[in-house]
Amino acid sequence: MAERPYIVGNWKMNGTRAMLAQARAIDRASQNLMKVEVAIAPPYTLIHATHREVEQIGVGAQDCHPDPEGAHTGDISATMAADAGAKFAILGHSERRQDHGESNALVAAKASAALEAGMRIILCCGESEETRDAGKAESFVTRQLKASLPENLESPEESLTVAYEPIWAIGTGRTPTVEDIGAMHSAIRALLVELYGEEQGQLVRILYGGSVKPENARELLDADEVGGALVGGASLTAESFLGIVMAAADTADA
Ligand code: PGA
Repeated sequence: MAERPYIVGNWKMNGTRAMLAQARAIDRASQNLMKVEVAIAPPYTLIHATHREVEQIGVGAQDCHPDPEGAHTGDISATMAADAGAKFAILGHSERRQDHGESNALVAAKASAALEAGMRIILCCGESEETRDAGKAESFVTRQLKASLPENLESPEESLTVAYEPIWAIGTGRTPTVEDIGAMHSAIRALLVELYGEEQGQLVRILYGGSVKPENARELLDADEVGGALVGGASLTAESFLGIVMAAADTADA
């Protein structure tokens, strides 16, 4: 576990203004759990309101367009998300890759735009069940991540977080074994060291995501090279999300 675990809630396409009460509750409780860095990525419509409601936790976006502005009906640029209060963007989530056909090159361009707008990035990678069954998970994920990283990344230790999320574990209640997570995170670490050098490569946090819940968080966060968690379903109520944050605080104490 990294020195200060990072627990990020990805609300996906969930949340109207009524959910701001959950954000407030998460924020208030996190003020007493300073050993953990806590953040949430609400839908675009709630970024500004969430940013205004919270004092301690980070607020981010779940995507951005690669261009700063232009004729792209329905899209939101990194500049606009940052202006609304987003301090980071989640990019390359498997739901974006699948539902919107996002290629590695597009993810890299979006990541580049987010950095340009002054945001940090959480870059997602992860294999399908078929790829895992074929024994190709590590080679697939490291190749996918390498091709999705932006070229304008100057201080990876500050700007970059990687999230490993096996597609078959997202929203399914299934998780890889602690050994499999440790092996994948070590392979990702080796890639980061190869790309950014020993010192910076070691400092980039690698989150695990996929069916993280209060009940399994402690075990998953204890796996080798796991620096925190990216949480979907269990981030939608303050109660379950804070259960995970508290598990992270325990591992940071251990
Ligand atoms: P889940 O989603 O926690 O609901 O499995 C994780 C994610 O997609 O980030």
